[in-house]
Amino acid sequence: MKVPFSPPYIDEDMIAGVVATLRSGWITTGPKIREFEDRIAEFCGAEKVVCLNSATAGLELMLRWFGVKKGDEVILPAYTYSATANVVIHCGATPVFVDINSHDLNVSVDAIEKAITTNTKVIMPVDIGGWPCDYDAVLELVQKPEVSSQFKAATTEQEKLGRIMVLSDAAHSIGAEYKGKKTGVLADATVFSFHAVKNITTAEGGAVVLNLGDKFNQDELHKSLKVKSLHGQTKDAFEKNQAGNWRYDIVEAGYKWNMSDLQASLGIVQLKKYPKTLEKRRRVCDTYSQAFSKYSWAELPVLESDHKKSCCHLYPLIVKGITSDQRNEIIKEVGESGVAVNVHFVPVPLMSFYRDRGYNMDNCPIALDKFTREISLPVFYNITDEQVQYVIKVLTEVIENVLKGS
Ligand SMILES: Cc1ncc(COP(=O)(O)O)c(C=O)c1O
Repeated sequence: MKVPFSPPYIDEDMIAGVVATLRSGWITTGPKIREFEDRIAEFCGAEKVVCLNSATAGLELMLRWFGVKKGDEVILPAYTYSATANVVIHCGATPVFVDINSHDLNVSVDAIEKAITTNTKVIMPVDIGGWPCDYDAVLELVQKPEVSSQFKAATTEQEKLGRIMVLSDAAHSIGAEYKGKKTGVLADATVFSFHAVKNITTAEGGAVVLNLGDKFNQDELHKSLKVKSLHGQTKDAFEKNQAGNWRYDIVEAGYKWNMSDLQASLGIVQLKKYPKTLEKRRRVCDTYSQAFSKYSWAELPVLESDHKKSCCHLYPLIVKGITSDQRNEIIKEVGESGVAVNVHFVPVPLMSFYRDRGYNMDNCPIALDKFTREISLPVFYNITDEQVQYVIKVLTEVIENVLKGS
């Protein structure tokens, strides 16, 4: 039996949605984007959303909007995908990597606190695998008088906020819950990814959900982010296309980060079906947890607590007491039995670009240890009960064999 890792779920309604847009005569940024943005906002309980061509673009857009530049520091976990750090580099600022918790794979708020300096402009918590970070603790931290008083505002936006911005990398966590609220309204701004493997996909895509409060005019902020993400152009192609409305201005050297209506039309149907697809993901992950909880070697991911609920983007199984060679051997052997697994993540400081710039894992021993023993299992909407049972059987046999040999 073959079990892929995370193929996208594309049904006939999704295909029909895209085809209708293809036939409509308008395929780039236009009415479907507006509809998708409104639907995401409604889903999260937020006011304004900006759709973009990736989460990476969304993260960089918010860093640039806040005026992050050379000499500034951005705190983020070592345990994340490189996109979280690369955008900091793009802005000319310095990524400051910190360790994660021992009870989950998310950034440690104590480690964040220790890393704050007078140069810190932004904290980027990452909801690994769809499990929300401790947002109340992070927001409480940036509002502490001793922390906010050392914040050096260098732009109008920084002055208005008056403290470090909390920018959530929620690439994995659309639909996850924290104290009765959905991701999107837990940080100052939240960025979702709609990449092909994500819980909701537009093939490539992302969205920024704004939650900066009433110090900022929401309509103006939304408009200015749209302008920044499309060449600094005062009108998008759809607006320019209205009769007599051709004239536009370029008010800054902006970027080309807009999402197309083709992508949005897929996203709209994906979001409509999300209650059903999310429920299935949760069922698959619960089945894994029930099966593996019998084994003393299994360190299970937390999927639910009294105030958090994962959206089960990943099922990161951690195997107790193995070396990285044993983890690699397990991955090879389960692959030979037809089960595709993955590792989330190789910590960013271990990547050669970062290593060459002097980064290491000395301050992040927990992230290093978890990475060494982590294996992400297949989770996707169309996985059958037989496939789930096969994954459990193959993993268990292979892990027990490898442990016997050690
Ligand atoms: C944690 C994290 N952040 C950011 C990204 C970037 O998302 P995108 O591919 O939409 O730019 C990813 C992509 O997988 C991710 O895993």
